[in-house]
Amino acid sequence: MEVAKRLQGVGEYYFSKKLREIDALNQQGKNIINLGIGSPDLPPHPDVIKVLQEEAQKPNVHGYQNYKGSPVLRKAYADWYQGWYGVTLDPETEILPLIGSKEGIMHICMTYLNEGDKALVPNPGYPTYASNVKIAGGVTVSYELTAEHNYQPNLEALEANDLTGVKLMFVNYPQMPTGQQPDKTVFEKLVLFAKKHGILIVHDNPYSFILNDHPISFLSVAGAREVVIELNSLSKSHNMAGWRLGVLVGAADRINEVLRFKSNMDSGMFLPLQLAAAKALTLGKEWHDAVNAVYRERRQKVYELLDLLGCTYSKEQVGLFMWAAIPATYKDGYELADDILYNANVFITPGGIFGNAGDQYIRISLCGSTGRFEEAIKRVKEIKH
Ligand SMILES: Cc1ncc(COP(=O)(O)O)c(C=O)c1O
Repeated sequence: MEVAKRLQGVGEYYFSKKLREIDALNQQGKNIINLGIGSPDLPPHPDVIKVLQEEAQKPNVHGYQNYKGSPVLRKAYADWYQGWYGVTLDPETEILPLIGSKEGIMHICMTYLNEGDKALVPNPGYPTYASNVKIAGGVTVSYELTAEHNYQPNLEALEANDLTGVKLMFVNYPQMPTGQQPDKTVFEKLVLFAKKHGILIVHDNPYSFILNDHPISFLSVAGAREVVIELNSLSKSHNMAGWRLGVLVGAADRINEVLRFKSNMDSGMFLPLQLAAAKALTLGKEWHDAVNAVYRERRQKVYELLDLLGCTYSKEQVGLFMWAAIPATYKDGYELADDILYNANVFITPGGIFGNAGDQYIRISLCGSTGRFEEAIKRVKEIKH
């Protein structure tokens, strides 16, 4: 069957293909250690699971839910934004719960892009931005993030190009995959840039609590609400990736515009799930400190593994991954990843899947026990000596 034109140039998601290959290798008895995917392996807080269990027992919670989400959850998001980011949001009008931030990216593209409209996407960056822009009929214009420029957008270089037709700009700090921290002065410049060129900035903020002592919302910057909407997520911050809990926050008009699309696409989430999410949002600093202590310990092992591979990297990175430049002995990150996969039975993500600016890099996820990293180090040592 011929697929719709909108899927032309949009391949199957890299990880979906690679995981099939890893499954096949495992069936041959290879026991691959997967250091690729950023799906937290630690559980959510037990109180969160308890709320889900208790609420799910009730007879009257199984019906369709409000398209805008439960008022309890919206209020919890508002309190969370106030408490952690110092951003005041109206729970009635400025908050839209989502089934994960990934679906929000699609909703935003479908809401704002006409055929041929342009969207600026980071290179390297989360591949979903570019694929969703294309599916929605838009055209991606990639902006390069380089180590020399602290992985921040070079706005002068962008302005030197024709920005006609650019409607959206995807921005993501802490940046995935480079681990670059957010910087308020960069956000301030972006607000001016967006205002000058009539661009809506979509800030994707799922990593603000991971190994990052100062969570920042883009909306805390003066004037941002006029030109910025922000996606957030409980997937990484609360170890709830499989629960599918995200949120879009921003000016009431933007929320209503996106809701016009979203309410035609799905319905509100299962109420016990929303109430459990509300509970998660009340967790304090001790929760994040405990989770981060585990990631910090693992990161030490990742440094060891990267040193063994001859990679170079910054120790200032935040978020759930380590981004590292490969040694010159490999043509690119794909070659290194294949070498390590087929010879050491360890899967590492090649940086090129995040855009060609990542070709000379690899990305290692911190989602695995210390023991798994130790085993990966042992296997890599065996092929390197
Ligand atoms: C930068 C970025 N944005 C969004 C997502 C999707 O998160 P969610 O689970 O909320 O859909 C990911 C997941 O890996 C990500 O890395």
